Amino acid sequence: MRRWTDVWLNAGIATMAWTGRPYGAIEEGAIAVADGVIVWIGPRNELPNIDGAQVHDAGGGWITPGLIDCHTHLVFAGDRCDEFERRLRGESYEEIARSGGGIRSTVAATRAASEAELYAASLKRLSTLAGTGVTTIEIKSGYGLDLKSEIKMLRVARRLSADLGVTIRTTFLGAHALPPEYEGRRNEYVELVAGPMLERVATEELADAVDVFAETIAFTPGETAQVFEAAHRVGLPVKLHADQLSDQGGAALAARYGALSADHLEHANEAGVMAMADSGTVATLLPAASYFLREAQLPPVDLLRRHGVPIAIATDCNPGSSPALSMPLMLNMACTIFRLTPEEALAGVTRNAALALGLSDRGTLEVGKFADLAIWDVRRPAELAYWMGNLPLCGVVKAGVARETAA
Ligand code: NIG
Ligand code: FE
Repeated sequence: MRRWTDVWLNAGIATMAWTGRPYGAIEEGAIAVADGVIVWIGPRNELPNIDGAQVHDAGGGWITPGLIDCHTHLVFAGDRCDEFERRLRGESYEEIARSGGGIRSTVAATRAASEAELYAASLKRLSTLAGTGVTTIEIKSGYGLDLKSEIKMLRVARRLSADLGVTIRTTFLGAHALPPEYEGRRNEYVELVAGPMLERVATEELADAVDVFAETIAFTPGETAQVFEAAHRVGLPVKLHADQLSDQGGAALAARYGALSADHLEHANEAGVMAMADSGTVATLLPAASYFLREAQLPPVDLLRRHGVPIAIATDCNPGSSPALSMPLMLNMACTIFRLTPEEALAGVTRNAALALGLSDRGTLEVGKFADLAIWDVRRPAELAYWMGNLPLCGVVKAGVARETAA
């Protein structure tokens, strides 16, 4: 038997594995780790001899899988607080976008920022988010919209992983908005994204997936398909910002290309949801964007449940529609706004978020998975979705190593 290096004791464990019990819970559990991986997990009173292992007392709370934020635009320069104020005075998100603000204003700031400036601003946000129990995060490009600036964003995202003990998965989102210099030349921009940009991103191995914003203010279903075809040619899986502001048939389109996830989905229709169930596409719901834009239309949670589509929850951290930097707050919003149960919400930031990133080595606490743990000072797991603005986090473990936390 491999030598156990560390054991965590004195906690309930929400394994989030399919065990038939709510939260896959073990009321008084223990987790043993070797080489960063879980080698034993079960009730404490069944724990074999642990001689030689370092024992960690989890303090009587609950241990969950390290949280996974599977949809963010965390690398950007500047902020859009002025647009927040404009919206409070009555302008809509779409009106601001059409008047040259919105994504384009962040594009201008991001292009102007040096790589070092972009890194510093992003590192601050990542460390805040990581300090809320996050051990894996996805970061998209999409505020560069030219070859040089998209590459700059993806490089910054890749470099960010080094210091903070967070795994970063990157997604190329060149088709986020039409850059101003391509006004009236949409085809040329889509060809640039699907051609030279994507090739460079793939050659330099800067992205793990490819995303498109399919929307009236962004790209059409046909343009989306063109980018997806190109992504498949270079061997990258796809994701889609689908049906956020209007029904574009985005859910079905994502499913047709075997997308890892279709995200937002407020306006998705039932045929699209059924297609997602068939293709195994995860529905990533973004409650903070819905909240921040005061979107009246809620995503079709009942349809997703009825057709068995896995639901993930993420921050969508970005300067325009979701300046959110707390995962526990997302749990609360997923329950309060989208009416998920606390268990569904927690599955959304663990097991199903891993699926949305195509990662089978994390997201649940089981033998063979990474020992990415979040340790919470709560009496029962539902409390994680209950508090608002309180962070009952008391420790984070990344691949078996205790990480410094802000908590
Ligand atoms: O996921 N929907 C498109 N992209 C972002 C918003 C980006 C922005 O406004 O800067 C989103 O909500
Ligand atoms: Fe987004």
